Amino acid sequence: MKEIIDWDKFVELNWQKKPALFDLPDEPPMNEFDFLQAVHHLVNGELEASPRIRLFADGRNIGPGEEDGLISFVGTADIRSFAELVDIATSKLDSDTFTMILNDGGKLLPEVKEKLKDFLSSLTERVGVAPSFTDIELFGGSYKNTPFGIHRDFGNDNFIFGAVGEKRYLLWPPEYFSKELQENVDFQIKDNLIIASDEALAKFKEDALAFTVTPGTFLYMPDWWHVADVQANPIQLTLHLGLYSQVDLPSLGSIFMSELLNRRSENTNIEVEYSGEQKELPSFVSELVSDIKHIVSSGELEEHANNWWKTRRKNNGFS
Ligand SMILES: [Fe+2]
Repeated sequence: MKEIIDWDKFVELNWQKKPALFDLPDEPPMNEFDFLQAVHHLVNGELEASPRIRLFADGRNIGPGEEDGLISFVGTADIRSFAELVDIATSKLDSDTFTMILNDGGKLLPEVKEKLKDFLSSLTERVGVAPSFTDIELFGGSYKNTPFGIHRDFGNDNFIFGAVGEKRYLLWPPEYFSKELQENVDFQIKDNLIIASDEALAKFKEDALAFTVTPGTFLYMPDWWHVADVQANPIQLTLHLGLYSQVDLPSLGSIFMSELLNRRSENTNIEVEYSGEQKELPSFVSELVSDIKHIVSSGELEEHANNWWKTRRKNNGFS
């Protein structure tokens, strides 16, 4: 499902919230060398601020003490590849697998942040995608699966860039884990995680859409259910640009409506009306409808939307 990047096509995918794998027309925003150099800066205390790092050994979350230990240990070694870093980590942690998750990646990789800003700004210009905020994250190591399994990050669409090795992602649309499926397959949803037997997981895998991200490609992943399911050499590293709460008409509408309601509540004391046993539609609703008609016909809604849009586009979601 690899495609030459076509932003016009991307607009369609974005609005329909459909995942797709693209070829990068230029160099990847971060390669293996950029990452190793950044780790070197981190351990030598050359960064202005430290990113948040979470480490897992055989899926077990490692406490902050061990995390600091790992960073200083890595700093003393002359590491030439990501595979070597993973080797050092697993031998120090005495584990078979190692997972590294890093948030606030812009703190570790300021130059990469600039490249991602450019990437997103050209996208904003062309297709009008402006997130409310962004996060740059790194996910890598020698694991076969995401340690916490199939999960969903609500309101968080991702661009996933390959940096080292191959990483396969399995994706399911939001409606997949439905009540109807629950009648036939035994699983639970807890804190946006899927809890299921191996047998059930095998069935889910059969139904998944699979995409393999490599250096030179990137995956657009809307906020679907997902899990990394690494097939080949387990050593891999990906760079994620997470876009939170993207532009959508319902959110624009609801922001405007809540402001409108607040405006009316000053006049009609809505809170008092709602606090009683309200069986019928309150009379202010019809007044509100005529207010909305007036606001739309007078152009006030358009003005409001334009202001909202300008604020949203100001920095492409980068703080
Ligand atoms: Fe996730």
